[in-house]
Amino acid sequence: MSRKDLFDKPFDEGTMVKLEIFEKYLEVWLPTFVMSDFPNPIQIFDLFSGSGRDMNGISGSPLRIIEIITKHINILKKQQKVVYLFFNDIDRQKITLLEKLINDSIADAGLSSFIVVQYTNETFIRCLDLYRKCLNNGCNLIFVDQNGFKEVNEKVFKFLIGLQRTDFMFFISSTFIHRFANRPEFANHHPNFDINRIRKTSRKLIHNVICDEFEKYVPPEIKSYALFSFSIMKSDHNNIYGLIFVTKHILGADKFLQTVWKKNAINGNANYDIDDDLSKDQLDLFNGKLLTKIEKFQLELRNKILDSKISNNKEAYLFTINNGHISSHADDKIRKMKREKLIDFESKSSLVNYDQVCKKKRTLNFKLIKQ
Ligand SMILES: C[S@@+](CC[C@H](N)C(=O)[O-])C[C@H]1O[C@@H](n2cnc3c(N)ncnc32)[C@H](O)[C@@H]1O
Repeated sequence: MSRKDLFDKPFDEGTMVKLEIFEKYLEVWLPTFVMSDFPNPIQIFDLFSGSGRDMNGISGSPLRIIEIITKHINILKKQQKVVYLFFNDIDRQKITLLEKLINDSIADAGLSSFIVVQYTNETFIRCLDLYRKCLNNGCNLIFVDQNGFKEVNEKVFKFLIGLQRTDFMFFISSTFIHRFANRPEFANHHPNFDINRIRKTSRKLIHNVICDEFEKYVPPEIKSYALFSFSIMKSDHNNIYGLIFVTKHILGADKFLQTVWKKNAINGNANYDIDDDLSKDQLDLFNGKLLTKIEKFQLELRNKILDSKISNNKEAYLFTINNGHISSHADDKIRKMKREKLIDFESKSSLVNYDQVCKKKRTLNFKLIKQ
């Protein structure tokens, strides 16, 4: 009897959210490296690739990668760059199906001169070993679309975060961990996770807590990094899965945050109302108006500026990204403070964004106006 799996049925809503976030991030990641001066090869690793489509013909991650590369064919031509793709699946039949599908798509899109593909039928762990040398040499985006939670353990996480010029995104079944955290099998995989904390956390918030637990694996010598989570509730409203995104570059963090805030403009952190923000426009009888996630961030930013703890666009930008927000949240607030004559600065915009702070290296001081 054949085994039922993801590809024998339509992708569900949660799977679509996951794939859309991966795809949208890839769409902003790829041109950054195509247009950059890095001589290192541009590499995308999809090491749990599947066979390509669901039973209704909806594209899985590998075909979405090809679609995004197709959109960038002009800059690839202009820059004379090639994208190296690595597709792997433990299931031989799936990789055979995928190989034909991808090779046909590349030929149809006229991409043969711009893509080099390698297909393997190995375990994920074996792949990391097999590709160790090229992982160390490339500009990499790695997608770990595992079933469950077992593949990204401490050793694997440390290996991936140790790579240079690498962003990685992994999918994880957080509900599964929530449910089985006190079983010895789980402790074998993640002996340093705080099992009590996990067990006590509500299901709604569990993926954020799991992301915090992974942060324990970041080696102390890595000072600059970001780990962001995006929780995904399955349509059964019972199971929470999610993505964890890891980067060591502020541009990667900025672009991922833009991707997830586009996906959910209320919290940028889940495909549901994870912070109960939708009910916060009503007055609470005892506490007055409760602040939404964005309002809370903007109030903290305002207080830091008024306390002179943040005094220019660079400090405001770093505070924004480190708190998981996007530039427009900060810019709206800072411009409002100028209109309210709390601060003054010599520009229309607050210049709180990557281009002004990191690329153009412009400093804009916020002057406090004495009341
Ligand atoms: C969630 S599916 C991937 C879906 C795919 N990313 C897509 O968008 O269509 C997980 C895949 O991982 C494969 N797999 C399971 N365990 C694996 C392992 N240890 N190493 C590599 N592949 C594995 C399964 O055969 C399955 O096709």
